[in-house]
Amino acid sequence: MKVTYFGHSCFGVQIGGKHILFDPFITPNPLASHIKVEEVKADYILLSHAHQDHVADAFDIAKRTGGVLFSNYEICMYYAQKGIKSFRPMNTGGAVNASKFTVKSVNAIHSSSFDDGTYGGNPGGFVIESAEGNFYYAGDTALTEDMKLIGDGHRLNFAFLPVGDNFTMGYEDAIKASDMIKCNTIIAMHYNTFDLIKIDIAKVEQAFGKAGKRIVFMNIGETKEI
Ligand code: NI
Ligand code: MN
Repeated sequence: MKVTYFGHSCFGVQIGGKHILFDPFITPNPLASHIKVEEVKADYILLSHAHQDHVADAFDIAKRTGGVLFSNYEICMYYAQKGIKSFRPMNTGGAVNASKFTVKSVNAIHSSSFDDGTYGGNPGGFVIESAEGNFYYAGDTALTEDMKLIGDGHRLNFAFLPVGDNFTMGYEDAIKASDMIKCNTIIAMHYNTFDLIKIDIAKVEQAFGKAGKRIVFMNIGETKEI
């Protein structure tokens, strides 16, 4: 699978020629100023929760691409009221068949509200399964034993986990999470964008290495085959 990093928790993943975009936060992110948001491809837009650092560019990208928005009911209704026509409301535990993959909504321990104060439903993560492989996109979350259910129920090739601490789990809990989900290839997200989530990348790499795991820090704009 081809994975492109657009900064913070925003990734594009290509499966079967389709582009899945997670949590677009590009134009307000100074670290991603070299990304041309108007060129970002999206056949599907998956939003983990309503916080601004996950949805800032969702409306514009959905409008331009016509990509199907997959998120919780409240987030889908929020964008439907703003004129987005293509969406699939879900809630925790539910799975949906898209043409080239299935997406399952899983629990996240966090909060979810829009910048204007509108309630953003339950925060979540996603498990994607496809003929090309499976992965978990955790969204913003604390470490939770629910992650064991993901490890028991799915054979993951890799996982996107937050490692920035403060608003989500930090790297030590991310190592425990990787045990629970039974996945040793982790792509780091939700770090270094703001002062409150600054991390020492070398230290985190060392800790993962010591635990026998691989953590991947992608450059913003980089595409990798994973
Ligand atoms: Ni958040
Ligand atoms: Mn966040």
